[in-house]
Amino acid sequence: MKEIILITGARGNLANVVKDRLSKKYTIRFLTTNKKLVNNNNVFYWNIDDGYINCKALENCNHIIHLAGYPIINRWTKKNKKIMFTSRVNSSELIFEKCKENNIKPKTFISASAIGYYGLNSKGIKSENDNKGKDWVADLVNSWEKSANNFNSIGCRVVNMRISLLISKKIAFLKYNILSVKFGIGMITGFKNRIFSWIHVDDVAKFIQNSIEQNIYSGVYNLATENNITELEFINILRKKYCSFAFIISVPNSLLRIILGERSKIINTNFSVSVKKLKENNFEWTYKKFDKFI
Ligand SMILES: NC(=O)c1ccc[n+]([C@@H]2O[C@H](COP(=O)([O-])OP(=O)(O)OC[C@H]3O[C@@H](n4cnc5c(N)ncnc54)[C@H](OP(=O)(O)O)[C@@H]3O)[C@@H](O)[C@H]2O)c1
Repeated sequence: MKEIILITGARGNLANVVKDRLSKKYTIRFLTTNKKLVNNNNVFYWNIDDGYINCKALENCNHIIHLAGYPIINRWTKKNKKIMFTSRVNSSELIFEKCKENNIKPKTFISASAIGYYGLNSKGIKSENDNKGKDWVADLVNSWEKSANNFNSIGCRVVNMRISLLISKKIAFLKYNILSVKFGIGMITGFKNRIFSWIHVDDVAKFIQNSIEQNIYSGVYNLATENNITELEFINILRKKYCSFAFIISVPNSLLRIILGERSKIINTNFSVSVKKLKENNFEWTYKKFDKFI
């Protein structure tokens, strides 16, 4: 009998890469907020505000991967910030309550988290033991991880993935930048020497599989590569591949702030994260360098 994995957020980008990686070996189920996707066979409905989960999704479930979350890139209105919180934190608490109510004890609970934990104004290199930041994103991520940690109390191994920028050729951020360079314009947002940490979506899926299959994975992990790049290096890699004579233009911070408001802060972070803990678990990246997959 195959083990059963429940993934939250059926339409998610990472959720689908994880499904593709694990579906031969495991039975995959999803929770979704989208009624049109529901088939009550392997895709089940939940409504976080109403405290509702179709509990068939949880029956005999061996592992839960919590990837649902209203995108942080949406406008930071008071209403949206609340949805960003409830879709990550209340959702996790709801699954926990339903597991307890139905005496379901998964072996592992793996939850998305984010390097936003360290604060958007962070500097330097952040390790898992460093303090949390002081802004609302850091508070959100902290609550998200705490809600996942509830599962420790029912004997479940909990893994919190502090994910950096998720990259693959299918991701909008990269698609738009490639398109723009192909049209002869490479756009640098903010400072050209701004560093950003990234990880390929396939490597996060690989990390999730390792976390399911190897007991050594437990607690919090920064998910990034060792090869952070700067905005300028990023654009130059795209220019080299797609259009070496593309002009580079810088979108100044002041304009970013006008267009995106407070959200410009997530685009303008300038810190990196240590991946020492991943290396100690002998994690092997498929994509260590940015120019390997573009
Ligand atoms: N992308 C990144 O760079 C990055 C970085 C750090 C952390 N993360 C985190 O990693 C996780 C997966 O990322 P991703 O890029 O694959 O996310 P994604 O493509 O935006 O998918 C998230 C999924 O969450 C569900 N969702 C959206 N709004 C919801 C709501 N109000 N209530 C409940 N569920 C809702 C949706 O699935 P249904 O429509 O099927 O319900 C959606 O497809 C997310 O939690 C994200 O915050 C991502």
